[in-house]
Amino acid sequence: MRAAIAESYGNIQDVVRVSAVDEPAIGPTDLYVEMRAASVNPIDWLIITGHVRFLSEAAFPLRLGSDGAGVVRAVGPDVAAFAVGDEVYFRVAPDRPGTFAEFVAVDAALAAHKPRSATFVDAAGIPLVALTAWQGLVEQAEVTAGQRLLVLGGAGAVGAAVVQLAKGFGLHVTATASAQDAEWLHALGADRVVDYRTPAFDTAPDMYDVVFDTVGGDTQRRSYAVLARGGTLVSTVAAPHAEAREHLYGVRVKPFLMRPDGDQLARIAELSDAGALRSRIDSVFSLEDVRDALGRSASGHAKGKVIIVAT
Ligand SMILES: NC(=O)c1ccc[n+]([C@@H]2O[C@H](COP(=O)([O-])OP(=O)(O)OC[C@H]3O[C@@H](n4cnc5c(N)ncnc54)[C@H](OP(=O)(O)O)[C@@H]3O)[C@@H](O)[C@H]2O)c1
Repeated sequence: MRAAIAESYGNIQDVVRVSAVDEPAIGPTDLYVEMRAASVNPIDWLIITGHVRFLSEAAFPLRLGSDGAGVVRAVGPDVAAFAVGDEVYFRVAPDRPGTFAEFVAVDAALAAHKPRSATFVDAAGIPLVALTAWQGLVEQAEVTAGQRLLVLGGAGAVGAAVVQLAKGFGLHVTATASAQDAEWLHALGADRVVDYRTPAFDTAPDMYDVVFDTVGGDTQRRSYAVLARGGTLVSTVAAPHAEAREHLYGVRVKPFLMRPDGDQLARIAELSDAGALRSRIDSVFSLEDVRDALGRSASGHAKGKVIIVAT
C-alpha cells in the first residue's frame, strides 16, 4: 500500500516521501481501517523536524499521521464494539502512527463511530484537537459553568474546539485571534474576541478563572496578569517557570499532553451530531502532496484543519 513516511529527522521537503510499504498487521484488539481522510496536526511535523525528540526518539523510516477517519475492513478476534463496514474516527497511539496511508491498524479502544452528520473530511479533523480541548477543559482545568475562560489562539484548530466545548459547558469565553477571525469565532459562540496583534488581552480589566493556552511564549507569560488568584492555566505548548509562577500568582499551571481515548471520542461524536462542535477545513491535499500539507500546517497560519485524503 501507499503511505507517507519520513526517512530521518530533517526538513519536510527533504525527508518526507510517499512510498510502497507493507500493510499494517492487526492484533487481537485492533481495527484494520481503510483510510478516507486524515488530518495534519503540528505534532506530525514537530516529530519530523526533531523538535519533540525529547519526548521520544522516532524510529525510521517513520510512518506519519496521528488521526483520521475511515471504514473498518477487518477486526481482531477480541473486538466486539465494531464490525466490518463501520465508519470510524480515531487518534492512533503515538507509538503507532500512520494515518497518512491507504490503511492503518488502530486499537479499537482508541476509536469511535464517526459523527453521522460529518463527512469523512470533517470527521478526520476532529479527534486529536477535540480530545485535547476536552481533556484540557475537563481533566486539567476541571471547568464549571459560569467560569470565565480566556483561550489563547482561539482560531487555531485546538482553540476553536475549546471555544465550542466551553460554550457547551456554560463558560463565558474570550478568545484571542486575528481580527479577520472575530466574526467566525462569535458564530462558534465566543462572547468576546480580542485581536492578538494588539496588546489588548492583558491590558483589559477582565480577570479569568481559566486560561487555555495554545500559543505559549510571551503570549502565555502575559496571560498570568489576567488570571484570577486560584485560577488555572492549562497549556498545550509548554509552561516555563510553572512552579515559580504558581507561587507568584497563586494559580495552578498545567501543561499537558493529550492522550487517545475512544470513549471520549464517542461523546464528542454526539456533540458533533448535535451541532455543538463544528469543523473548519483550511485545505484538502492528496496523499501524494503530503509535503505541501505538512508545510501548510507548519506555516502556523492554517485557518482550520489541513486534511489529507488517501485516494
Ligand atoms: N499538548 C498536546 O497534547 C497538544 C495537542 C494538540 C496541539 N498541541 C499544540 O497546540 C498548538 C496549537 O495547535 P493547533 O492544531 O490548534 O494549531 P493550528 O491550528 O495550526 O494554529 C494555527 C492558528 O493559530 C493562530 N495563531 C498563531 N499565532 C497566534 C497568536 N500569537 N495568538 C493567537 N492566535 C495565533 C493562527 O492565526 P493567524 O493565522 O491569524 O495568525 C492560526 O489560525 C501547537 O503548538 C500544537 O503543537 C499540543
